[in-house]
Parts: sequence; structure tokens; C-alpha cells
Amino acid sequence: MTPTPAPGGPVHASSATELSLWYGKFRALDKVSFAINAGEIVSLIGPSGCGKSTLIRCMNRMNDSPTTRTEGRLTVANYDVQSPNTDVLALRRDVGMVFQRPNPLPLSIRENVLFGLKLHARSTPRADQERLMTEAFETVGMWDDVKDKLNDDAESLSLDLRQKLCIARLLPLKPKVLLMDEPCSALDPDGIAAVEELMAELRGHYTQIVVTHNMQQARRVSDRCMFMLMGELVEFTDTDDLFLAPQDERTARYIEGRYG
Ligand SMILES: Nc1ncnc2c1ncn2[C@@H]1O[C@H](COP(=O)(O)OP(=O)(O)OP(=O)(O)O)[C@@H](O)[C@H]1O
Ligand SMILES: [Mg+2]
Repeated sequence: MTPTPAPGGPVHASSATELSLWYGKFRALDKVSFAINAGEIVSLIGPSGCGKSTLIRCMNRMNDSPTTRTEGRLTVANYDVQSPNTDVLALRRDVGMVFQRPNPLPLSIRENVLFGLKLHARSTPRADQERLMTEAFETVGMWDDVKDKLNDDAESLSLDLRQKLCIARLLPLKPKVLLMDEPCSALDPDGIAAVEELMAELRGHYTQIVVTHNMQQARRVSDRCMFMLMGELVEFTDTDDLFLAPQDERTARYIEGRYG
């Protein structure tokens, strides 16, 4: 199914207009508006509980539940995300998600990367599947690590290779947007450096939206940075500007370390 086109306006990788979200009576997002350009890396920072995961999870409909309600408008990869007509499986093919803890499937290294194709593109010829798998591992820079053990259990890989595998397995489906919710928080410094390098390699090819608690990481990896507080998007600007010349007093206080 083709995405439900977002009517009017420029085409962004993602945009929101006064997006609000309630869990029951609790308002977790408060009229959030933004426009994210294709190919850029956007980091999302703010104190615990400010709504970072809620926002990123909205982008591929992971907050859907009978007690969750949204208002406003959200488009991602040209999908009108909240429309009841949106094909959620197709949305999740085009908008991949990487979590805090690497969560490979209990399958072999090869099968982890082929799984998405089997789910979403069953008719892909076998030779093409193998090529797409190889390319995915090459893109994330781990082909040499896995080429001789493709049939081993994915759980046998180190934590950072498991996280790279979780990114690699999205790529054969040619996603437009990669959502990452604290993708480095379970990794050691070498693993963090490896995943940050990978993000830099993917810049321009995919739009990356990355939640991080690590302000230094936000400064290292992102082109632009969003600061959220209590469900509100306080400031969204070039990363250097946000850290060196924040426009909002609340942003300034946060980057000085005055919120938890
Ligand atoms: N499924 C849910 N039901 C009810 N409330 C929720 C649910 N998920 C999150 N919340 C609440 O919504 C608010 C935002 O949570 P969210 O997980 O988006 O914050 P966060 O910025 O990602 O925090 P952290 O940095 O700790 O991961 C919090 O007050 C949280 O308790
Ligand atoms: Mg979170």
C-alpha cells in the first residue's frame, strides 16, 4: 500500500503540527511542532520523563493503545501517521526503530537480517536476499566480523555488534527514517564510538532521529538538536547553536546541568 500522502506543504522526512498525546488523563506531549529534513541527524534531549521516547514512539505508531489519545498532525516518510487508513506494517518498514538494549531475534546472524525481507518482501529472489544481506553488513561496517559465522546465533555477538546488527537488519527494506531510542546507553566507550561512527556514515542516506541522555553525544553526532521539557518542545535548532547560544532560558539551565 502506498503511504497516505500528507496534503500540502513541503515534503519533510518528518513534521509535526501541534501534536499532543495523552496517556489516559496525563498529557505527555503538549502541542509539539517541528520539521525534520531528509538525511539529517536530529538528537532529542531533555530530562527523564519529558516525553522523548513518547515522541519517537509516535513516529512508528508504537504508542497505540486504547488509553492513548493524540491530537494534531504527524507525518513521517510521507505517511500521515495517525490516520486510521495508514498501513502500520508499511510504516514500520519505512521507519525503522532501534532500542536501548540490542534486541536481535533468537535466530542466526544471517536470519536476523533476512527476517525483514521475509516479512515484508517475500518475493525477493534468494540471490538478491543474499546480496542485500551482505550490503547491509558492509554498510554498518561488520561484514568482516560476521562473514565466517553467518549461521551462528546472533546472541553470540558482542553488545556493540548486536546493536549494529539491529541497525543492519533494517537496511534491506530501504527505510527512509531510522528512529533510535538511546541506542548507545548499554554500550562501553568503544561500542559507543563504533555506533556513533556508523551514524555518521549513514548521514545523508537515512534520516536519523536519536534520543540520547548524553549531551556530549548529541553534540558529536547531530546536525540539529531538540530540547524537550514536560512534554513541550522548547527549542529545536542547529546543535552548536543550541549548546553555545540557547535561545530559551530553560534550555540554558538544562545544558548547564541544572535539571535532573
Ligand atoms: N504507557 C504509558 N502509560 C502512562 N504513562 C506513560 C506511559 N509511557 C510513558 N508515560 C509517562 O509519560 C511521560 C513521558 O515518558 P517518556 O518515556 O516518553 O519519557 P522520556 O523522556 O523518554 O524519559 P527517559 O529519559 O526516562 O527515557 C512520563 O511521565 C512517563 O511516566
Ligand atoms: Mg525514554
